[in-house]
Amino acid sequence: MTSSTDTQWQALQADWDRLRNVHLRDMFADQGDDRFNALSRTMDDLTIDFSCERIDVAALDNLLALAAACDVTGARDAMYNGDVINTTEGREVLHVALRAERSDGYMVDGAPTADLVDPERDRFLQFADDVRDGKYTNAQGARFTDIINIGIGGSDLGPVMAVRALSEFRGDGPNVHFVSNIDGAHLTDVTRGLNRSTTMILIASKTFTTIETITNAQAAKAWLLVELSSADADQNLAALSTNLDATAEFGIAAERVFGFWDWVGGRYSVCSSIGLSVALSVGGKNFREFLAGFRAMDQHFKTAPMAQNLPVLLALIGIWRRNIMDCLTVALLPYNQRLEHFSDYVQQMDMESNGKGVTKSGDALTRSSAPIIWGTPGTNSQHSYFQLLHQGTDIIPVDFILTANATSPLDYQHKLLTANFLAQSRALAFGKTPDEVRAEMTASGASEEQITDLVPHRTFHGNRPSTSIVYRDHTPFSLGRLIALYEHKVFVQGVIWGVNSFDQWGVELGKVLARQIEPMLDDGQDLSSLHANTRGLINRIHDLKSK
Ligand code: F6P
Repeated sequence: MTSSTDTQWQALQADWDRLRNVHLRDMFADQGDDRFNALSRTMDDLTIDFSCERIDVAALDNLLALAAACDVTGARDAMYNGDVINTTEGREVLHVALRAERSDGYMVDGAPTADLVDPERDRFLQFADDVRDGKYTNAQGARFTDIINIGIGGSDLGPVMAVRALSEFRGDGPNVHFVSNIDGAHLTDVTRGLNRSTTMILIASKTFTTIETITNAQAAKAWLLVELSSADADQNLAALSTNLDATAEFGIAAERVFGFWDWVGGRYSVCSSIGLSVALSVGGKNFREFLAGFRAMDQHFKTAPMAQNLPVLLALIGIWRRNIMDCLTVALLPYNQRLEHFSDYVQQMDMESNGKGVTKSGDALTRSSAPIIWGTPGTNSQHSYFQLLHQGTDIIPVDFILTANATSPLDYQHKLLTANFLAQSRALAFGKTPDEVRAEMTASGASEEQITDLVPHRTFHGNRPSTSIVYRDHTPFSLGRLIALYEHKVFVQGVIWGVNSFDQWGVELGKVLARQIEPMLDDGQDLSSLHANTRGLINRIHDLKSK
């Protein structure tokens, strides 16, 4: 059976047949400055350079034709219009409304989203400022010194990433800590040495049913109660959730429950009250700047022509890497220490959204979907896995990110950081030929025998693709804009693959099985209903525990 996009995919395959054996060295030699000009795009101070990808303008045109054939603009408009595009859960997808202004006109259930979003946003930002200013205190009138956000997945990864990223903007705000893992070591380690009386616990859970979060929240409340009365401890608790019945049942006072809505996916929720820890860390004004950065990219995605639209182009390059070049994984490498958690955050956003095997209508995908996303900041990464990126047997495309200005007063370090950022895309693309190695070794006085032995080891074949993202400064605004760039990239790829990017059924089975297995871990249980491996391992664990 042919699909309506077969022609576009075939054209892309033909492009690859044409380009597969062309080296980036030759593409740059032929096209010179034109290549950078033709394959980079700018929005305000943000530039994305695709010229070190193994494409040319004709292939990019065919990728844009694929986006058109997949009706990316129609799908985008359906999201912005509040259509129920999360079909398997029957929900709208309106995280863009969280950072919108009323004039943007987003609607849900026939009413402006601003009627819901604006008052709740004002409320949680006011609370953040009241805590920071010492207007909201503990029961004894003392300022909160520490905040612990208890949440997991989307209720943790966005906040932890943004709090760390914006540490420079903290001023005299409280210390913000994060507990996510059900491993009790996480809560134990974070609470060690903290003053219970001046520590506020935020329980962050969209559903308020996630076992890790609820169990850790109960343990954290018990930790408070070691020294505080129940009434005093209540003052140190707040909840961030869509499930207001469950937060009430947990015993959180309604004035410290900050809500959001089921049309916000967990991994897209950092702009909702789930971002309270970020607002506590940097204050309401900076948080609003953060939202403004998201909104700038939301507006760009909504209005820029496809050929200039940064999230669309980033997505199409990803489609080229994944479906045409058959690359399984992507390294996302910020040359920015403040973005140390950015790859982990995008990892969930991308892999939980598009790590799907069936289309929206339930048919098996005939092409690969989301790649594996991972990464750590440069230059640390250069001293660990870059060996494989440069000379390993697989091609791993890289996204590099850099701000033009330093994120610390140490300007010389930033110069070196910048030089390394530039050097790596160049080394990946151009490599070093055997002739260059030979000439270099000859010049340094190596013998002919040494040269013959070492040339294969010292050769870099190059032709390894990367995209470089550069913008002016690292600020709340630029962070919001960068996140929204990746959010919309993921959206576009989901449209092209035809998957529902907004459900996550794949996480359910493990949760159900863990609930079934948990009671079986008590002594003396009948394990006969379990599979041999589970039974064998439980017996082994019991043996090990008794010794
Ligand atoms: O298990 C996956 C998941 O549902 C994620 O999608 C979500 O971000 C995370 O768990 C946490 O969920 P909640 O915020 O409801 O506790």
